[in-house]
Amino acid sequence: MSVKFSKPNIKETDLNLVKKVIRSGWLTHGKNTSLFEQKFKSYTKSKYSVTVSSCTAALHLSCLALNLKKGDEVIVPAMSHTATSHAVEYTGAKTVFVDVNHETGNIDIAKVLKKITKRTKAIIVVHMAGFSIEIDLILRVCKKYKLKLIEDCAHSVGTKFKSKHVGNFGISGCFSFYPTKQITTGEGGMLVTNNKSFYNKIKKLKAFGIDKDINQRKKQGTYDVKSLGFNYRLTDFQSALGLKQILNYKNNLKKRHIIAKKYINDLKNIREVKCMPYSANCSFFVFQIFCKKRDKLLKRFKEKKIGVSIHYATPLPSMSYYKNKYNLSMLNYQKAKVYANTNISLPVYPSLKSKEQNKVINVIKEFYGYSK
Ligand SMILES: Cc1ncc(COP(=O)(O)O)c(C=O)c1O
Repeated sequence: MSVKFSKPNIKETDLNLVKKVIRSGWLTHGKNTSLFEQKFKSYTKSKYSVTVSSCTAALHLSCLALNLKKGDEVIVPAMSHTATSHAVEYTGAKTVFVDVNHETGNIDIAKVLKKITKRTKAIIVVHMAGFSIEIDLILRVCKKYKLKLIEDCAHSVGTKFKSKHVGNFGISGCFSFYPTKQITTGEGGMLVTNNKSFYNKIKKLKAFGIDKDINQRKKQGTYDVKSLGFNYRLTDFQSALGLKQILNYKNNLKKRHIIAKKYINDLKNIREVKCMPYSANCSFFVFQIFCKKRDKLLKRFKEKKIGVSIHYATPLPSMSYYKNKYNLSMLNYQKAKVYANTNISLPVYPSLKSKEQNKVINVIKEFYGYSK
């Protein structure tokens, strides 16, 4: 029996709506896009939401809408997907990396203070694996130094901090619907914000800088463009897929919690393995363990046909583009290095069967010599 690392949570009935949209011939700018935006913002309890073609697009648009440019600096965690820092680089601003906590992968807030200069304009945080950062602390820093906060919520549909959904604390929350994520549209993303003028800027930037939506145009095809924009739209059939999954997300999240609790319980006596902490506020995009002899264990998983992943294997400051451009030394990112060398992401998707999870657990127990 092989075990997959991730499986999208898509039902046959979800596909009926996708098919209906495709058959209708109205493939983009449609009512499912508006519905998906509405349902998503009501799930996160945000005032505004905009579908986009990816989380990367949402991060890029957020940086643009904050007018980030050459000469500005933006603080980014050393451990993330490269999309987080690329979004800063696209604007010409400088990425300033900060080390992370090696047990959560989240930005080390005490170290953020040491990197703030007169040029710092914003901080981007990532809620790694769906586990929220200490938002109170980062908001205090942002307030004191008048910095904008962008939340990279790529791992975080369903993540809360003190009963409020993440994405609502910064100027924007940027979500990803890549296939391994809690909900997927193939490629895709959502930007949420509680700021009306920021929302209006994002809507224009997302669609070529055009001043009027299709339904606002008096005469077909007539609109003006006052500033440059992009084509970062999500199609209506992708939105239909996302809509179905967000409507059913509570169930998905409940199952992720059951699976996470079982990993924590069943692995608790293995000294060589440390599990990510449990929190009722976590959305468990993946279930992370931090372990000794990590690479040998990865090999064992492969032999046993168990799909696992690493989030992430390479700290961003050691990627050639960043290392060479900013002349970075990994001596300043020691915790990110430990994190990169010890983490494994285990499967935690809702359709993971008990016998599949038991196989994952038993392979770990056997590997470290804890089987009966
Ligand atoms: C933390 C983080 N930010 C941003 C992204 C980019 O997301 P997308 O593939 O939707 O552009 C990812 C992708 O996995 C991610 O993990």
